[in-house]
Amino acid sequence: MGAFRKLLSAAFRPRPAGGPYVKDSMTILVTGGLGFIGTNFVLGHLASGGDRVVDLDLATYAGNPANLAHLPPESHLLVRGDVCDRELVEGILREHRPRAIVHLAAESHVDRSISGPAAFVQTNVVGTFTLLEAARAHWETLTGAGRDGFRLIYVSTDEVYGSLEPDDPPFTELSTCAPNSPYSASKAAGDHLARAYFRTYGFPAVTTHCSNNYGPYQFPEKLIPLMTINALAGKPLPVYGDGRQIRDWIHVEDHARALSLVLDKGVPGETYNIGGRSERANIEVLTSICGILDAEAPREGGAGHLELAVHVADRPGHDRRYAIDSTKIESELGFMPEYSFPDGLEATVCWYRANARWVESVTSGEYREWMKRHYGMDGWDSPPEGLPGGTLAARRGPGLRRTAGLAPRRWRSDMRIPWRRPWYGVPDRWPRIMKRPEERRIGALAAVGQTRAGSRPDTDRKSARHGPEVGQPRARKAASHGPEGG
Ligand code: NAD
Ligand code: DAU
Repeated sequence: MGAFRKLLSAAFRPRPAGGPYVKDSMTILVTGGLGFIGTNFVLGHLASGGDRVVDLDLATYAGNPANLAHLPPESHLLVRGDVCDRELVEGILREHRPRAIVHLAAESHVDRSISGPAAFVQTNVVGTFTLLEAARAHWETLTGAGRDGFRLIYVSTDEVYGSLEPDDPPFTELSTCAPNSPYSASKAAGDHLARAYFRTYGFPAVTTHCSNNYGPYQFPEKLIPLMTINALAGKPLPVYGDGRQIRDWIHVEDHARALSLVLDKGVPGETYNIGGRSERANIEVLTSICGILDAEAPREGGAGHLELAVHVADRPGHDRRYAIDSTKIESELGFMPEYSFPDGLEATVCWYRANARWVESVTSGEYREWMKRHYGMDGWDSPPEGLPGGTLAARRGPGLRRTAGLAPRRWRSDMRIPWRRPWYGVPDRWPRIMKRPEERRIGALAAVGQTRAGSRPDTDRKSARHGPEVGQPRARKAASHGPEGG
């Protein structure tokens, strides 16, 4: 082999995660790498021999430096700082000269955007603008293959499309932009900026719109980890409104793989929808989580975990249904989710159960403040007498007041199980839905069935990569993928 070819093959040889840093090796800049999707993306990227990651993250309440602390700086270099800090961003680009940027940093929780939208406009709009400006200036200094191959992946959300009616087809890349929350509006502003930078300057931005992610390392303010850890602790499970809002769930590792594909093969100026083709009503998700826990960690006295469910006031402007048509990324970039929702959910629930120390480390301080402010309880442990005092309590209508009084000795008897609630709308249908999820197409949820008819059933897909294996204890399996190392 000639000397030049040897040099080439050495330069492009995949490097193992955590391997020695080769000075001239490629680098990507990831923003928000300490968050839920960022952590999973960085781990997956490095595990598949991807190039070095420089990670710009402010380490807000949602960013956990411990997630990636085991990685050597040769593989993952953390720069703690604000994506809104133009000088800092320019300095990083100058020093590390990344070949691409994956922009994940954001304020990401819809409920927090309702109670405090300013931070969302700052990080999601000003931060995205700052990054685009600095990246454009950097890109303009590049020449040849470096310039042609440069990409900025703007990780947006399906929420920018607004809400679907039960019979509507899933969102495509051509769906109207109609955000309903301050969170989704701030993400949509980023969409528009990314598009404008491509159209005006030819800057190679690519935008993705993904549906609801679930999996390890998600901050437990979001539905699946919140319900899992509350259920494990025997605490109430707060269902917003009637619980029949529908989300299209995708395992975070599938999303991370889709982002890698977009990074490698995405076309500048294009947008790609990413979905898991797993539409579920919230109450179905909760029923599944409780079913898994009933089998894995039965409650003392034999009561089911679902009995911990309580209905609380609905989220204002709550989007009723999201569903994503990912035909474009599947046909053009060859993406296919690997996790089925049942397998992925079981692995996820087991992960939170097996990683109690991680859960403990992120549920102190700010988390307890949030729980108190939003749900009116200090982590639901020591509720005040009478009505809880949080945001949800303030919004409670007369019917909902009856779910108040969540003091541990009182709330069990006061609690309203969905099918017993007169204000619930269709009480006769709930026992069937709750007890026999396989009959999901009946009654009020017929629309869910219709939607799924257009989707590929979960069973068409490969089973979960990290799903429980026959004969292997599930908790141990989940633990082996956790930060606690089993
Ligand atoms: P997350 O809240 O778990 O993580 C956000 C990360 O950004 C944290 O590490 C945080 O410290 C960091 N960050 C926040 N403000 C910052 C700032 N000013 N400067 C630098 N870093 C900052 O969010 P996530 O769920 O991992 O979502 C990541 C991205 O993916 C977001 O842009 C979100 O809109 C998008 N998205 C999320 C989902 C989902 O279901 N979670 C779905 C589609 C799209
Ligand atoms: O669709 C993609 C989006 O998914 C992302 O862009 C967001 O960053 C991410 O947070 C998520 O937004 P949602 O609002 O859909 O996720 P969340 O987990 O907050 O809520 C999911 C559903 O569960 C929603 O209908 C509200 C409901 N819910 C949520 C919580 C926290 C409850 O019923 N009770 C709760 O306590």
